[in-house]
Amino acid sequence: MAFNIAIDGPAGAGKSTIAKKLAADLGYVYVDTGAMYRAMAYYFLQNHIDASDEQAIAAACPKVDVTIQYTGGEQQVILNKENVNGVIRKEEVGNMASATSVYPVVRTKLVELQRQLAAKENVIMDGRDIGTVVLPDANVKIYLTASSKVRAKRRFDELTAKGVSCDMDAIEKDIIERDYRDMHRETSPLKQAEDAVLLDSSDLDIDGVVEEMKKIIKKAE
Ligand code: DC
Repeated sequence: MAFNIAIDGPAGAGKSTIAKKLAADLGYVYVDTGAMYRAMAYYFLQNHIDASDEQAIAAACPKVDVTIQYTGGEQQVILNKENVNGVIRKEEVGNMASATSVYPVVRTKLVELQRQLAAKENVIMDGRDIGTVVLPDANVKIYLTASSKVRAKRRFDELTAKGVSCDMDAIEKDIIERDYRDMHRETSPLKQAEDAVLLDSSDLDIDGVVEEMKKIIKKAE
């Protein structure tokens, strides 16, 4: 049986950076489920499909093939045979992913793929519904969060470092809207699983969070 670790939490809490580091340290396969929703969203954007048009989304889903490969330990998302890793990180794609991940037709497709990956390997999987829906029997569940101010500041620093000019208040507004949408959708909303450990990273750096997570995992082993 594979040993599975589920990490859920809102946008910008540091899930992917931390899960990636933890997976490398512990020798697990890291599965970034947000990237899968982003790949689908990228397809919808490329094909000018409106996020509010559920029928068009449902009609497009069978034409979208999302798979995962690993090169040098890095997850690569393949959308209809094209590697889309380099194009799915934009805010526009993230917002579209948040808007289109509300549809069960989108979720069913990706949840299936996520469960197949977790059945085969020891995974650290991050997302919004991993502990609650995708892997309800995960060996460890962690809900990682941070205040919206801290998350906005981190995103601001990340974008500024890349030379992108941006506005901190606009970023925080975007984060709050995304949280609301992710937490209030009907299907698989973002919430802490009853048996998940809550970890607030507002006052911790990356290494601090990784250390806390290792302690939580050790207790469960
Ligand atoms: O983690 P992220 O920012 O890459 O995720 C993008 C969007 O995808 C997020 O706003 C909601 C959706 N998502 C989801 O609904 N379920 C998941 N397991 C992961 C992401």
